[in-house]
Amino acid sequence: MTLEEKIGQLNQYSDDWSATGPVTVDNAKATQIKNGQVGSLLNCIGVERTASWQKIAMQSRMKIPLLFGQDVIHGFKTTFPIPLAEACSWDLEAIKLSAQVAANEASASGIHWTFAPMVDIARDPRWGRVMEGAGEDTYLGSLIAKAKVEGFQGEKLGSTNSVMACAKHFAAYGAAIGGRDYNSVDMSERMLWETYLPPFKAAVDAGVATFMNSFNDINGVPATGNKYLQREILKGKWGFTGFVVSDWGSIGEMINHGNVKDGYEAALSAITAGSDMDMESRCYKNNLAKLVADNKVQVALIDDAVMRILLKKFELGLFDDPYRFCNPDRQQKALNNPEHTKIAREVASKSIVLLKNENHLLPLSKTTKTIAFIGPLVKAVKQNKGFWDVEVPGVDSNFIVSQWEGIENKIGSTAKLLYAKGCEIEGSNRAGFAEAVNIAKQADVVILSIGERRDLSGEAKSRSNINIPGVQEDLLKELLATGKPVVVLINAGRPLVFNYTADNAPAILYTWWLGSEAGNAIANVLFGDYNPSAKLPITFPRSVGQIPMYYNHFNTGRPAKNDDNHFNKSSYIDESIFPKYAFGYGLSYTTFAYSDLKIGSTKMSKKDQLQVSVTISNTGKYDGEEIVQLYLRDKVGSIIRPVKELKDFKKIHLKAGESKMISFVINVEKLSFYNQNLEWVAEPGEFELMIGASSEDIRLKAGFELVD
Ligand code: BGC
Repeated sequence: MTLEEKIGQLNQYSDDWSATGPVTVDNAKATQIKNGQVGSLLNCIGVERTASWQKIAMQSRMKIPLLFGQDVIHGFKTTFPIPLAEACSWDLEAIKLSAQVAANEASASGIHWTFAPMVDIARDPRWGRVMEGAGEDTYLGSLIAKAKVEGFQGEKLGSTNSVMACAKHFAAYGAAIGGRDYNSVDMSERMLWETYLPPFKAAVDAGVATFMNSFNDINGVPATGNKYLQREILKGKWGFTGFVVSDWGSIGEMINHGNVKDGYEAALSAITAGSDMDMESRCYKNNLAKLVADNKVQVALIDDAVMRILLKKFELGLFDDPYRFCNPDRQQKALNNPEHTKIAREVASKSIVLLKNENHLLPLSKTTKTIAFIGPLVKAVKQNKGFWDVEVPGVDSNFIVSQWEGIENKIGSTAKLLYAKGCEIEGSNRAGFAEAVNIAKQADVVILSIGERRDLSGEAKSRSNINIPGVQEDLLKELLATGKPVVVLINAGRPLVFNYTADNAPAILYTWWLGSEAGNAIANVLFGDYNPSAKLPITFPRSVGQIPMYYNHFNTGRPAKNDDNHFNKSSYIDESIFPKYAFGYGLSYTTFAYSDLKIGSTKMSKKDQLQVSVTISNTGKYDGEEIVQLYLRDKVGSIIRPVKELKDFKKIHLKAGESKMISFVINVEKLSFYNQNLEWVAEPGEFELMIGASSEDIRLKAGFELVD
């Protein structure tokens, strides 16, 4: 290959029709592809479109096939719950399956590569992209990262049913200061290693094919030009053999960061740091050859990047057949597979969190006579798909079962269903309140569907105010004044603040954005055909002022306690320090009792496996699932340890009245942390073991000691 052809492999463009950043208009795209100056395209969907570009690539001298990448974040044609919602299921098999279905549909539509999963830990719900990850916890996030990579990639690359995954955004993008997207990150090395890097490591261990770096600078060095992150950690210490793509234009953005002077220096910094492919900045295309001529960049560095990219093209089988993902029949079948719809419904049902259920208002009786279904999201389709839905050519992009349809499907003609919009999602117009109150008065039960618009959470959608927008909670106030029982559905892409609703509505389901089968899944839960089992993977604050807020914080020298003297505790004088809903929280229609905690020994050595067992009983009237959570606290550490850390969990199904014993194993890995020298160590001493139904609802405790 000539140097120009090699550089071409490192160059990625967006197709002309859809983009998440400023598109560089380039009429010469086809000519450049023919000249071997482009290695990959993104935002190019469908077998016809991808095949037409591939045909052009096949006219190039080396006939190196193009790679087609796409943000397949929560489904393709079949839309799944947004990742944060799906994480509420704590169901790794379900999460893997949804990635598999997405991969199946995307690969049948010409896509080779998804820019997912986003494995950024996020502790700040102001950050719009909190919707795209698995929440705040490193342990849960790492397991979900693995499940997603395995789901997208299948057994091994090369199957036409799977796509390459991409762990993003490397690194610490979720810790943007103030929750403002693209903002700087300032973080201790230990926090980086302990909290933010493990999900990326889990993705590497699961065989992830690619990484994407991040827009932010971290401690003053842009991630894209960060040699320590990409060369030392990722490709060095972790032995990652895949390739790293930049984020959209992030190589060029290093100029704005103030880390490099121009595109020439940006390209030098990025290639040196280990960014292999340039997404849309054109810094590589415009500068790498000159950098080589000037002896600033050794060809070996470029060869390494090219080899990494070509290797993936080989593994995908593209050199055998560049059109192997371009089969129209397969596309047609994959995009119309009823099995996918069924899976989407199941995953959506598992993602709905029951936050409140006073006096067993839910599940609703199927013989309820009149239901008033009110709110701006009742009939919403596009608004309820969630950010990062994919516009698939030739497919109705509004393909989603609305909540209205879902309930109609469920109750048929057995009940009268009344509708009023009541208000818009945003704005101050109350003109629709009277009609809403009027139908509420005629009903036996009111269901109110409120929340965020599709584009209030997602990339570049940070909010400084995370209340339920507009007058939606005022509408609730009026509906409650009718004296009718009101069930509130909250549709959102982040934890919102909704204290009025939380304190006054008798029943609340947090439905997030659930995808294609939203309406049917919600109806299943409302009428008890699915007993909610989801638990929050992220803390819900009471107010924005509490953020960042997370369950695994340190105790401090003045821990939280009931004491009016604020000098005696780390607290606010105008706000509680406790969350509205804690990490791990979520109710069921049934109740579970925890008993009989047994641990194999009160002492363990570093070689031991400590056996732990506990009995869980379903003490209510419904069959149901419980997510049993195991937390540990290392009581004394050379680096202080959090008040509790999730170290294991089990999701179990129990029939009404049934009991099961479940067991866990504690090994030295679960007791280890990064010490002052960033060594991964377990220090002898006392540990507290907690088993609970949430991080706050600890039911059973025991102690043990790690001995030398
Ligand atoms: C986002 C990435 C995404 C890329 C391509 C960027 O703006 O940060 O997550 O994969 O666009 O669409």
